[in-house]
Amino acid sequence: MAILQLKKYGSPVLREKAVPINNIDTEIEKLANDMIETMYVEGGVGLAAPQVGISKRIIIIDTGEKGIMVLINPVIIKREGEIKEEEGCLSVPGIYSIVRRSSSVTVEALDLKGNKVQVSQEGFLAVALQHEIDHLDGYLFIDRLSPAKRLMIKDQLKEMK
Ligand code: NI
Repeated sequence: MAILQLKKYGSPVLREKAVPINNIDTEIEKLANDMIETMYVEGGVGLAAPQVGISKRIIIIDTGEKGIMVLINPVIIKREGEIKEEEGCLSVPGIYSIVRRSSSVTVEALDLKGNKVQVSQEGFLAVALQHEIDHLDGYLFIDRLSPAKRLMIKDQLKEMK
Protein backbone atom coordinates (compact mmCIF):
# COMPACT_ATOMS: atom_id res chain seq x y z
CA MET A 1 0.00 0.00 0.00
CA ALA A 2 1.05 3.55 -0.51
CA ILE A 3 0.06 6.96 0.69
CA LEU A 4 -1.10 9.03 -2.26
CA GLN A 5 -0.64 12.74 -2.72
CA LEU A 6 -3.78 14.76 -2.14
CA LYS A 7 -4.92 17.17 -4.82
CA LYS A 8 -5.93 20.52 -3.47
CA TYR A 9 -8.31 23.27 -4.55
CA GLY A 10 -7.11 24.72 -7.86
CA SER A 11 -6.03 21.34 -9.22
CA PRO A 12 -7.85 20.70 -12.56
CA VAL A 13 -8.55 17.01 -11.82
CA LEU A 14 -10.94 18.06 -9.04
CA ARG A 15 -13.10 19.75 -11.68
CA GLU A 16 -13.25 16.87 -14.16
CA LYS A 17 -16.11 14.45 -14.54
CA ALA A 18 -14.55 11.13 -13.55
CA VAL A 19 -14.96 8.15 -15.88
CA PRO A 20 -16.85 4.95 -14.98
CA ILE A 21 -14.83 1.86 -14.10
CA ASN A 22 -15.57 -0.99 -16.49
CA ASN A 23 -13.06 -3.47 -15.24
CA ILE A 24 -12.38 -4.05 -11.56
CA ASP A 25 -8.83 -5.34 -11.83
CA THR A 26 -5.82 -5.41 -9.51
CA GLU A 27 -5.06 -1.81 -10.40
CA ILE A 28 -8.45 -0.71 -9.03
CA GLU A 29 -7.97 -2.90 -5.96
CA LYS A 30 -4.62 -1.27 -5.32
CA LEU A 31 -6.12 2.18 -5.83
CA ALA A 32 -8.84 1.40 -3.27
CA ASN A 33 -6.29 0.15 -0.74
CA ASP A 34 -4.04 3.15 -1.29
CA MET A 35 -7.02 5.48 -0.88
CA ILE A 36 -7.91 3.76 2.39
CA GLU A 37 -4.37 4.17 3.67
CA THR A 38 -4.28 7.79 2.54
CA MET A 39 -7.57 8.56 4.30
CA TYR A 40 -6.29 6.84 7.42
CA VAL A 41 -3.16 9.02 7.46
CA GLU A 42 -4.80 12.30 6.41
CA GLY A 43 -7.99 11.91 8.42
CA GLY A 44 -11.47 12.46 7.05
CA VAL A 45 -14.46 10.18 6.69
CA GLY A 46 -14.39 9.80 2.94
CA LEU A 47 -12.23 10.12 -0.12
CA ALA A 48 -12.89 10.15 -3.85
CA ALA A 49 -10.33 9.07 -6.47
CA PRO A 50 -10.09 12.53 -8.12
CA GLN A 51 -8.72 13.78 -4.79
CA VAL A 52 -5.65 11.60 -5.35
CA GLY A 53 -5.41 12.62 -9.00
CA ILE A 54 -7.26 9.64 -10.50
CA SER A 55 -10.29 10.62 -12.56
CA LYS A 56 -12.22 7.38 -12.01
CA ARG A 57 -15.55 6.76 -10.32
CA ILE A 58 -14.57 5.21 -7.01
CA ILE A 59 -15.11 6.50 -3.49
CA ILE A 60 -14.45 5.23 0.00
CA ILE A 61 -16.44 6.06 3.13
CA ASP A 62 -15.53 5.30 6.71
CA THR A 63 -18.79 4.14 8.27
CA GLY A 64 -17.30 3.70 11.72
CA GLU A 65 -18.64 0.45 13.16
CA LYS A 66 -19.13 -1.23 9.83
CA GLY A 67 -15.69 -0.35 8.55
CA ILE A 68 -14.67 1.22 5.29
CA MET A 69 -16.96 0.94 2.31
CA VAL A 70 -15.54 0.96 -1.21
CA LEU A 71 -18.09 2.05 -3.82
CA ILE A 72 -17.44 1.86 -7.55
CA ASN A 73 -19.56 3.80 -10.05
CA PRO A 74 -21.89 5.01 -7.26
CA VAL A 75 -25.23 6.51 -8.26
CA ILE A 76 -27.78 8.09 -5.93
CA ILE A 77 -31.06 6.38 -6.78
CA LYS A 78 -33.15 7.84 -3.98
CA ARG A 79 -32.96 10.88 -1.77
CA GLU A 80 -35.21 12.28 0.93
CA GLY A 81 -35.44 15.06 3.44
CA GLU A 82 -33.08 17.89 4.18
CA ILE A 83 -30.10 18.27 6.47
CA LYS A 84 -27.66 21.07 7.18
CA GLU A 85 -24.28 19.87 8.38
CA GLU A 86 -20.88 21.47 8.61
CA GLU A 87 -18.57 20.08 5.97
CA GLY A 88 -14.90 20.22 5.25
CA CYS A 89 -12.75 18.55 2.63
CA LEU A 90 -9.15 17.32 2.54
CA SER A 91 -8.85 19.05 -0.83
CA VAL A 92 -10.05 22.39 0.56
CA PRO A 93 -8.03 22.59 3.78
CA GLY A 94 -9.00 25.03 6.48
CA ILE A 95 -12.50 25.77 5.22
CA TYR A 96 -15.58 24.47 7.01
CA SER A 97 -19.10 25.52 6.26
CA ILE A 98 -22.71 24.43 6.59
CA VAL A 99 -24.06 22.75 3.47
CA ARG A 100 -27.66 21.83 2.76
CA ARG A 101 -28.15 18.30 1.42
CA SER A 102 -30.61 15.42 1.43
CA SER A 103 -30.90 13.84 4.87
CA SER A 104 -31.08 10.28 3.57
CA VAL A 105 -29.87 8.68 0.37
CA THR A 106 -29.78 5.29 -1.26
CA VAL A 107 -26.78 4.62 -3.45
CA GLU A 108 -26.35 1.87 -5.98
CA ALA A 109 -22.78 0.85 -6.78
CA LEU A 110 -20.42 -2.04 -7.35
CA ASP A 111 -18.17 -3.41 -4.63
CA LEU A 112 -14.59 -4.51 -5.22
CA LYS A 113 -15.79 -7.98 -6.25
CA GLY A 114 -18.00 -6.47 -8.91
CA ASN A 115 -21.20 -7.25 -7.05
CA LYS A 116 -24.04 -4.77 -7.23
CA VAL A 117 -24.69 -3.25 -3.81
CA GLN A 118 -27.28 -0.87 -2.43
CA VAL A 119 -26.39 1.34 0.49
CA SER A 120 -28.90 3.43 2.42
CA GLN A 121 -27.60 5.99 4.88
CA GLU A 122 -28.98 8.92 6.77
CA GLY A 123 -27.53 11.88 8.61
CA PHE A 124 -23.80 12.27 8.69
CA LEU A 125 -23.07 9.29 6.42
CA ALA A 126 -25.66 10.42 3.88
CA VAL A 127 -23.85 13.75 3.80
CA ALA A 128 -20.52 11.98 3.30
CA LEU A 129 -21.90 9.93 0.40
CA GLN A 130 -23.26 13.01 -1.34
CA HIS A 131 -20.02 14.91 -0.75
CA GLU A 132 -17.85 12.12 -2.20
CA ILE A 133 -20.12 11.44 -5.18
CA ASP A 134 -20.02 15.18 -5.91
CA HIS A 135 -16.25 14.84 -6.27
CA LEU A 136 -16.80 12.36 -9.12
CA ASP A 137 -18.73 15.01 -11.02
CA GLY A 138 -16.18 17.75 -10.42
CA TYR A 139 -18.07 19.48 -7.61
CA LEU A 140 -16.69 20.61 -4.29
CA PHE A 141 -18.75 21.34 -1.18
CA ILE A 142 -17.94 25.03 -1.52
CA ASP A 143 -19.94 25.06 -4.77
CA ARG A 144 -23.05 24.26 -2.73
CA LEU A 145 -22.82 27.19 -0.34
CA SER A 146 -25.19 30.11 -0.37
CA PRO A 147 -23.87 33.22 -2.17
CA ALA A 148 -23.38 34.96 1.19
CA LYS A 149 -21.27 32.13 2.56
CA ARG A 150 -19.26 31.90 -0.63
CA LEU A 151 -18.46 35.56 -0.29
CA MET A 152 -17.21 34.93 3.24
CA ILE A 153 -14.64 32.36 2.07
CA LYS A 154 -13.67 34.14 -1.14
CA ASP A 155 -10.38 35.49 0.18
CA GLN A 156 -9.40 32.16 1.74
CA LEU A 157 -9.99 30.45 -1.59
CA LYS A 158 -7.95 33.04 -3.44
CA GLU A 159 -5.00 32.35 -1.20
CA MET A 160 -5.22 28.65 -1.98
CA LYS A 161 -5.00 28.94 -5.74
NI1 NI B 1 -14.07 16.30 -0.21
